[in-house]
Amino acid sequence: MGREIKFEIFRYNPEKKGKVPHMQTYTLDETPNMTLFIALNRLREEQDPSLIFDFCCRAGICGACAMVINGRPGLACQTKTKDQPTNITLHPLPVFKLVGDLSVDTGVWFREMYDKTESWVHTSKTFDPTKKEERMDDKVANQIYELERCIECGCCVSACGTARLRDDFMGAAALNRIARFVVDPRDERSDDQYFEIIGNDNGIFGCMGLLACEDVCPKGLPLQDQLGFLRRKMGITAIKEIFRKK
Ligand code: SF4
Ligand code: SF4
Ligand code: FES
Repeated sequence: MGREIKFEIFRYNPEKKGKVPHMQTYTLDETPNMTLFIALNRLREEQDPSLIFDFCCRAGICGACAMVINGRPGLACQTKTKDQPTNITLHPLPVFKLVGDLSVDTGVWFREMYDKTESWVHTSKTFDPTKKEERMDDKVANQIYELERCIECGCCVSACGTARLRDDFMGAAALNRIARFVVDPRDERSDDQYFEIIGNDNGIFGCMGLLACEDVCPKGLPLQDQLGFLRRKMGITAIKEIFRKK
């Protein structure tokens, strides 16, 4: 017989007036290979239809099911209950706007950050659909592909002490996104232009470098390398600027 799992789940629906945030306890028999996705769906179907949480892909691709699992941000669909103790505590991701219970709105945050960081290829070339595609060096293409694997789940942002203290901090996901354009040869922005965007306390100089972001990233993105790369690049740009002014 499987274990009996006790779930302590954060409950609060900001839409419902008069309600206060609280923890609610549920129990469920563990089945083989049970994920938190399966457990939460069973709880909603069998015990409490009012439970709010998000899922789309169930395959670690959409990022919708991120939540704080026993104190650590992670993807519910990729978390097996057998790897957790019999008491499982679930909270919504901090930093993002709470929709209800375990559901947060990461979309607005990511859109704002991507607007701030001008997250698109800046080029003076006009797109000509009849022209042959330009070749890109394999190494660079792979580097861009690696950084594009972010699923925008928000785990790194929720684990980040700076992002939790300051809502204008870009966080590892947005800084990683900038690194993706810095290495892209099609983007014509200069270091000075990147400095304008991230060379400040809301950007790379606000990062404390303790790397909780990389520890929790479910896709294993090399955030540490990217933050170090940007810090060095922007540091050099700042020094050059000081000498230019002299
Ligand atoms: S290394 Fe920087 S971005 Fe990552 S968690 Fe720490 S402060 Fe946040
Ligand atoms: S960098 Fe990793 S943890 Fe952060 S949003 Fe992207 S996939 Fe999620
Ligand atoms: S449901 Fe898509 S990542 Fe978990």
